[in-house]
Amino acid sequence: MKKVIVTGDRGYIGSVLVPKLLTKGYKVVGFDTGFFDKCIIKGKKDPVYKKIKKDIRNITEKDLKGVDAIIHLSALSNDPMGEIDPSLTEEINYKSSIRLAKLAKESGVKKFLFSSSCSIYGIAKSGIVDEKSTVNPLTAYAKSKIKAEKALKKLAGKNFFIGLMRNSTVYGFSPRFRNDLVVNNLVTTALAYKQIRILSDGTPWRPLIDVRDLSDIFIKFLETGTQNLNGKVINIGFEENNFQVKDLVAVIKKQLPNCKVVYTGEHGKDSRSYRVDFALFKKLFPNVKQKWTLTKSVKDMIKNLKKSDFNRTTFESGKYTRLAVLKNLLEENKVNKDLYLN
Ligand SMILES: NC(=O)c1ccc[n+]([C@@H]2O[C@H](COP(=O)([O-])OP(=O)(O)OC[C@H]3O[C@@H](n4cnc5c(N)ncnc54)[C@H](O)[C@@H]3O)[C@@H](O)[C@H]2O)c1
Repeated sequence: MKKVIVTGDRGYIGSVLVPKLLTKGYKVVGFDTGFFDKCIIKGKKDPVYKKIKKDIRNITEKDLKGVDAIIHLSALSNDPMGEIDPSLTEEINYKSSIRLAKLAKESGVKKFLFSSSCSIYGIAKSGIVDEKSTVNPLTAYAKSKIKAEKALKKLAGKNFFIGLMRNSTVYGFSPRFRNDLVVNNLVTTALAYKQIRILSDGTPWRPLIDVRDLSDIFIKFLETGTQNLNGKVINIGFEENNFQVKDLVAVIKKQLPNCKVVYTGEHGKDSRSYRVDFALFKKLFPNVKQKWTLTKSVKDMIKNLKKSDFNRTTFESGKYTRLAVLKNLLEENKVNKDLYLN
């Protein structure tokens, strides 16, 4: 049985990925500070596996003993979170990722999968961008991801596989739900206020992927034996899932016809916009097909949220908004200013 560490296992993606790994027979050990431990959807429970409450910045060689692979998800994850303190984003997302990867290599771990983001493309003026295009990271979050990619690439070696997955923005239901991701946000706002609120003018492009499809792809990377992916940046997503924000409205409106569509325009024309080419991914993984289309996932999300405690009050409580949760932890003195647990 393979032993896999998942950092950030109690996050939005981790909470979907870990049960899949357990079903496949992996022995999972999770390392997470537990910032979002309480943000679990009512009625959902974490599966049983070894969960360690530890800051990624404090991981030692001892923690990596007998580990075959690391799926590294822990991060101050997303653009608004990065702005809480850009230097902390650099410390957690970039420096601690490199430190962890170096420790892993020294400890004989064979694989290290890094969860990067297509948001490093920022505003892409030149139509579709691929892995060779110039990146334009606009936020502390995006900058931390590109720096990490570059430094990790150098650590790839004969006995150490580095997977550099430049992931699309994720959507879909997870037991640790987030409403600060574009599709999830549009759906939850519609459920809470009967309004689909578009913050931009609706024209920005975004590549999107369902959390279950992405989790399956992490497992593909874990299981692939081909060394030609080692240290190679790969855009992860599906060509047909490059959407303009206004296209999302039509899909959601179909499921929630009583909602009004409101363009607030508060992000104006400056929002990030990038259409991404996934030809390399398709070439390397020709058998990986999308299972959770946007329509299927939105339907499922609405069904699951309606079944849970989700309503306008939970929406406004910030329970599913990462920045609000972190700000609360700071205010309640549960973490110090450097986000170490008190
Ligand atoms: N969600 C997306 O759309 C998306 C897209 C591309 C890439 N990614 C990347 O995938 C990864 C997982 O994303 P997610 O959406 O599940 O994020 P998330 O915020 O839901 O989960 C991140 C987890 O990391 C933990 N964490 C944060 N700082 C930590 C630290 N210092 N030590 C230990 N644990 C810490 C948090 O407690 C949380 O459980 C992140 O690296 C993110 O940048 C996410």
